[in-house]
Amino acid sequence: MNYLDKHHKIFKGDARTLIKDIPDNSIDLILTDPPYNLSPYSTGNIKLSWRKDINNDLAEWDRLEFNPSGWVKEFKRVLKPTGNLFAFTSYNLLGKWHEAFDPEFDTFQFMVWHKTNPAPKIFKAGFLNSCELIICTWNKGHTWNFISQKEMHNFIEAPICMGEERVKNPKHPTQKPIKVLKHIIRIASNENDLILDPFMGVGSTGKAALEMNRRFIGFEIEDKYFEVAEKRLSCIQQSLIVREKRGEYKKEGKGSPSHNSG
Ligand SMILES: C[S@@+](CC[C@H](N)C(=O)[O-])C[C@H]1O[C@@H](n2cnc3c(N)ncnc32)[C@H](O)[C@@H]1O
Repeated sequence: MNYLDKHHKIFKGDARTLIKDIPDNSIDLILTDPPYNLSPYSTGNIKLSWRKDINNDLAEWDRLEFNPSGWVKEFKRVLKPTGNLFAFTSYNLLGKWHEAFDPEFDTFQFMVWHKTNPAPKIFKAGFLNSCELIICTWNKGHTWNFISQKEMHNFIEAPICMGEERVKNPKHPTQKPIKVLKHIIRIASNENDLILDPFMGVGSTGKAALEMNRRFIGFEIEDKYFEVAEKRLSCIQQSLIVREKRGEYKKEGKGSPSHNSG
């Protein structure tokens, strides 16, 4: 595979196989959103008289076991020494991520995405699920872009995808907002860097990456999501090619000059 002369390259299939074709030390940022395995904790279908049933199960793909320990070796192999890894996850897997990745990297932290418009709890019986966890890990010398500590709270607020941003056909149950993805990309990579999302869904990481002048490689196992990702990304690529030809690439406005932190 030759990724280096393209804005993006995406592959339909199983990430466990596809990642093996990625060369050692070639990725600047892994920004991904693997299955959460929340299905065992689901209350299943909730029957309501005034509207259609609410189904708490995310999707079939979430039932397949995702074990972070099975990914450390390949993630470490493909990441450059200056690379960063950010992965969305949920409370039930946080400990497993820490157990597997903390011993293998210098630093292991987490971020919180606070959803300003979480789904309501029909029976008002507990907390709203308004926060999502993002684990992040890196080695000394990793790429890090910020000017002030104010930019570095491990907390970001954004609504869940709605309106124009929400892909409608098919809807992806866990589509991530471009605002959150761009924030991470800005602080953890440089222009022209290569970003990998092995569980890309409808390609949100790719869209954010291309719009910020990064290159992107993505994998997705389900045909319907892959097809949407393909459309979303080729649309952006077309407009980038036009802008490139006109010499209109805009430099980023925010963040310090790129540097690798010690
Ligand atoms: C949490 S979703 C990612 C959603 C994505 N962040 C977005 O904004 O669209 C995880 C995705 O991983 C895909 N997936 C699950 N197992 C996979 C595997 N072994 N290889 C590739 N994709 C996989 C699922 O089909 C699902 O679309």
